[in-house]
Amino acid sequence: MKRNIAIYPGSFDPATNGHLTIIHRALRIFDTVIVAVANNARKTALFTLEERQALLAEALQGEPRVEVDAFEGLLVDYVRRRQASAVIRGLRAVSDFEYEFQMANMNRKLDPDFEAVFMMTGEEHFYISSQVVREVAALRGDVSDLVPACVQKKLIEKFPK
Ligand code: PNS
Repeated sequence: MKRNIAIYPGSFDPATNGHLTIIHRALRIFDTVIVAVANNARKTALFTLEERQALLAEALQGEPRVEVDAFEGLLVDYVRRRQASAVIRGLRAVSDFEYEFQMANMNRKLDPDFEAVFMMTGEEHFYISSQVVREVAALRGDVSDLVPACVQKKLIEKFPK
C-alpha cells in the first residue's frame, strides 16, 4: 500500500515547541512526516543548516515515522522528488494567513498537483515563533517553556550569561 507522506518545510531557526506539536499532530493524519529544513541563502540564520537538522533530529528521536532532511531550491520540486502528497504548514494568527495564502497559490501555480494542509496552532503556542525565541534568548531571557531542552542548551551556548 502507498505510504501517505507529508512534508513539513521551514527554516526551523531554531525548532520550537510549536513546530514539534504540529509534527505530532501531522503524524495522526500521515504515515510519514519529512521535516525539511530550508537552505535559504537569502536568510541569515542563527544556526547553521547542520545545527538546525541535528536539533530537530534530537528533539524527534524515538519517532520512527519522522525523517529530518534539508532541501534547496523550489519546494514544489522537493515535494515531487520525495513523492509527498501534501505540505504541512502551521497557522498561528491572521497575520500568518496572507503570506501562507500567497505561498500556497504560488506553489500551486508552479505545480498544479501541489497541496498544502494548514494546521491551526493551539492557544498555548500561538505567540511562539523562532524569531521571538532568538530575540529573547539573545537578551538572556528564559525560553525553557518555548523550545525543546536540546534547543535551550544550544541557545545558552550561543548566548552565555
Ligand atoms: O519557516 P519559514 O521561514 O516560514 O519557511 C518558509 C519556506 C522555507 C517554507 C519557504 O520559504 C519555501 O518554501 N522556500 C523554498 C523556496 C521556494 O519554493 N519558494 C517559492 C515559494 S512561494
